[in-house]
Amino acid sequence: MRKKVTVVGAGNVGATLVQRIAEARLADVVMVDVAEGVPQGKALDLMESGPIMGYDWKITGSNGYDETAGSDVIVITAGLARKPGMSRDDLLAANAGIVKQVAAETGRRSPKAVMIVVTNPMDVMAHVAMKATGFPRERVFGMGGVLDSSRFRTFIAMELGVSVENTHAFVLGGHGDTMVPLPRYSTVAGIPITELMSAEQINRLVERTRNGGAEIVALLKTGSAYYAPAAATLEMVESVLQDRKKILPCSVQLNGEYGVTGTFAGVPVKLGEKGVEQVIEIKLSTGENAGFMKSVDAVRSACEKFT
Ligand code: APR
Repeated sequence: MRKKVTVVGAGNVGATLVQRIAEARLADVVMVDVAEGVPQGKALDLMESGPIMGYDWKITGSNGYDETAGSDVIVITAGLARKPGMSRDDLLAANAGIVKQVAAETGRRSPKAVMIVVTNPMDVMAHVAMKATGFPRERVFGMGGVLDSSRFRTFIAMELGVSVENTHAFVLGGHGDTMVPLPRYSTVAGIPITELMSAEQINRLVERTRNGGAEIVALLKTGSAYYAPAAATLEMVESVLQDRKKILPCSVQLNGEYGVTGTFAGVPVKLGEKGVEQVIEIKLSTGENAGFMKSVDAVRSACEKFT
């Protein structure tokens, strides 16, 4: 049976994700946005690429939610994008209202779907979406760690002059500013980067990764990153739709793991057709744990303030 994905928000991240889903031959897609004509126009444009790109997927654009019914996966990208000088937290109040509404609208029509939240600040928005849908934690989680680790991998490959395919990066915690990269679990062809680079080099790459989103915002001047965010989301969508059971860093509500209960944080999870099928716990050093708890506290206090 053909799979069905709903993408809410037909902006840069949403539309790029829809293109990637079609080109990866994964599913029919419904794209929803408040902007009149935009989801319809982009959907038609993408359908008209099908004969050349070799896909037959049905791509529908809408300003309403009825077409989304029965989706296997829902991705939420609706919201305001970060502008230069704006922190993720500045976006919080505005985006919380949007995510609450779109999560409820889509969740009601696809009660068995797996929901992936992309809208920033993502960890808090995942919490908002979970409350709005009443979905279990296995089926509402956020995209952030896959993007952060892809950025880290890019910088490791650039620094060492090796293929990105040989790199593996491990990040924990909140998306962006409070992210906790774990260099000792980050490798090139299985070799920890701590054996391949100096501490100074690693710190430089970690800092660049932490500021990865801001670096793109400063260059673009209007809008924020979308190619890599869409690629990162695609990897999660694919792991769910195809039951790949990939281990990916995602933001999930912790239930005692890592000594935390009730707060969303980025941790490695196994992603399959049921959503989060396992939360993987690793032993953290004292320093790593302190960074992780700082990140958890930041998400918790934002949730208490705004949700
Ligand atoms: N319902 C549906 N769509 C909405 C709503 C709403 N209530 N409010 C806003 N939107 C739509 C906008 O009309 C816009 O088309 O969300 C889209 C957001 O697209 P962009 O502004 O292009 O932002 P984008 O770069 O795609 O980023 C979206 O993902 O990575 C995060 O920080 C980023 O939170 C931001 C989100």
